[in-house]
Amino acid sequence: MFPITAERPADAAQLEQLLDLTFGSGRTAKTVYRLREGVAPIKALSFAVRDGSRLLGSIRYWPISIGEAASPAIMLGPVAVHPDFQGQGIGRALIRHSLYAATRQGHRLCMLVGDKAYYEPFGFVNAAERGLEMPGWVELERFQIMELVPGALEGVGGMIGKPKLARGRKKAA
Ligand SMILES: CC(C)(COP(=O)(O)OP(=O)(O)OC[C@H]1O[C@@H](n2cnc3c(N)ncnc32)[C@H](O)[C@@H]1OP(=O)(O)O)[C@@H](O)C(=O)NCCC(=O)NCCS
Repeated sequence: MFPITAERPADAAQLEQLLDLTFGSGRTAKTVYRLREGVAPIKALSFAVRDGSRLLGSIRYWPISIGEAASPAIMLGPVAVHPDFQGQGIGRALIRHSLYAATRQGHRLCMLVGDKAYYEPFGFVNAAERGLEMPGWVELERFQIMELVPGALEGVGGMIGKPKLARGRKKAA
């Protein structure tokens, strides 16, 4: 098994290629990308799997807010594994490692849009059924949320948005 390490600035070009390869170049049309625009990924939760200098896998998270109360949360994704290396446990290892790190870093809620069958075993549940909304079209079955801290969803609901700080920065610019 290849080790999981922090993403490095030098990974940037290979990461774009990996995401184009795994998700297709039309990936940026998705609603999740609207939430990422103008917002930096969380550096402490950006991990990579490499074989030497070759990038085999990557996971990133983005800060988001939920509802009018702007409850802070994180959004998982994208997670991608090079097709030649899929099915070897790299994706699951990246997700487990990063969710553990996120919990240790004090994050309380994690949202994602992805395949239910893949994410359910980690503890994700349907987000729409818990009163959350996406600011654009999304397949509701793929819209999921996980409490990193038990009870963190209590009293939280409404529209997913960019983190409060990033919105503030954008207005000032
Ligand atoms: C999804 C992805 C990250 C999984 O990484 P991986 O390293 O291949 O996954 P793992 O080896 O840890 O797990 C493989 C298992 O997950 C299952 N799996 C993979 N993708 C799945 C999916 N989209 N839905 C349901 N199950 C899936 C496999 O069937 C396999 O099951 P098994 O262990 O019972 O045989 C990778 O396949 C990928 O990059 N896909 C393209 C991009 C993508 O779809 N990203 C996720 C967005 S939902």
